[in-house]
Amino acid sequence: MKEKILALLRTSSDYISGQAICEKLGVSRTAVWKNINALKAEGYIIDAVNNKGYRLVGEPDIVTKEKIEAALTTSVIGRELYYYDETDSTNIRAKLAGETDGTHGALFVANEQNAGRGRRGRAWSTPKGTSIAMTFLLRPDVPIENVSRLTILSALATARALADTAGLQAQIKWPNDVVVGGKKICGILTEMSSEGMDIKYAVVGIGINVSMMEFPEELADKATSIKLENGTGCDRSKLVASVANHFEELYDAFVKCQDLQFMLDEYNSILVNKDEQVYVIEGYNRTEYTALGLAPNGGLRVKDKDGQESIIISGEVSV
Ligand code: BTN
Repeated sequence: MKEKILALLRTSSDYISGQAICEKLGVSRTAVWKNINALKAEGYIIDAVNNKGYRLVGEPDIVTKEKIEAALTTSVIGRELYYYDETDSTNIRAKLAGETDGTHGALFVANEQNAGRGRRGRAWSTPKGTSIAMTFLLRPDVPIENVSRLTILSALATARALADTAGLQAQIKWPNDVVVGGKKICGILTEMSSEGMDIKYAVVGIGINVSMMEFPEELADKATSIKLENGTGCDRSKLVASVANHFEELYDAFVKCQDLQFMLDEYNSILVNKDEQVYVIEGYNRTEYTALGLAPNGGLRVKDKDGQESIIISGEVSV
């Protein structure tokens, strides 16, 4: 019944009265009302006006495997694709596949995570229908110390995808965050399993805030979403495919060169706090530097108060 009412709404260019729906479908007014409410709960925007009836104003952005595949231009990345309407965490799904016979490049995408994880053991929220959780399973043929460069590639791939699919000019907060207007829109969690000095697999998990209109109080001044920034949101299936498309291009160049020299200019042009004072937090240490830019090894080039230059390999940046 719900599908039939939806079909009627889709074909009506103007309001269609409740009475007309009842007559066309041979159902009661109560049944129409209940199904209209069910559609609204699924994210359909239906305008209801007394004496006029109902009009479909907007449809929810439903992600499907088919829609993602239709927008993929890759050869390897995402060609094995797993889509979950709800799962624990796409990183957990990818790691389980990594432990067995999961293919290099496999992509795990979720509409909702109930045990999403962020960095430093924090939780990561992926509410149903309003964000994207995606994880690449990789079996990279690179030295173990180069794995963190996958995070750097993913951040640039995401920034490019936000420009392509949402018209947003994003910036990167080295090493893990993508920000828009100074607020975090995407976080990246890279995890790895190794045997001795050999990488068994790495997983790169990317969480993007798409259409949430508000955040919990403690995040309100730190987090944003695509919809808050561009007013419309974006097609999440196309966004996932675009991240994968850009990631493959960058990954292939990285594997060929082994360093990130090829992308320094582009990355540094959108690096937050470039040439500004920052604090780098490494463990319990908080040191003041001037951020100079990305180094070819994926670290952050910095200058201390004495003018001494060095490269920070891991840590977090704050202002
Ligand atoms: C952070 O900024 O703390 C990193 C957040 C990473 C979240 C993504 S969402 C997809 C993947 N699955 C997870 O459980 N975490 C990552």
